[in-house]
Amino acid sequence: MAEREIVKYGENVLKQRAEEVERFDDSVRALIEEMYQVMEENHGLGLAAPQIGVPKRVFVYDSEDGPHALINPRLIKGSGEQISVEGCLSIPGLQGEVKRYETVTVEGLNENGKKVRIRAQGLLARVFQHEMDHLDGTLFVDKADPDTLQLVGQEEVDVSEE
Ligand code: NI
Repeated sequence: MAEREIVKYGENVLKQRAEEVERFDDSVRALIEEMYQVMEENHGLGLAAPQIGVPKRVFVYDSEDGPHALINPRLIKGSGEQISVEGCLSIPGLQGEVKRYETVTVEGLNENGKKVRIRAQGLLARVFQHEMDHLDGTLFVDKADPDTLQLVGQEEVDVSEE
């Protein structure tokens, strides 16, 4: 399978509303497998299809029992509030604080094409909201508190003089 690059900030596919998946078939299974691979290679907690250039409503996420996918996810309910630092594989090196629901209930199809309803809280709830935003063309920087945005993990440059 061809290696996929992660689409970076500035590309149009990240700003569009992704399309519903009409039919759960082998092409969707293949997309999910590819997304699992890209998520793992990049040590991501989640990945949305537009991030590999596919404008479909699919995201994958990592959980304690391995990677999973949600197709055509819908937020059924959100409650509470959490504020924490987020980053995004499509915006390397940038982090900022984003306010999210503490608990969400999301409905969609899982990686087997089965309809599921998942209640998540804390970090997983945050990942769900971040990835669903991607499917609507919204990035965490659009929601982050601008005062908290900062570049991190940049290579250190040695400026010491001999
Ligand atoms: Ni992201």
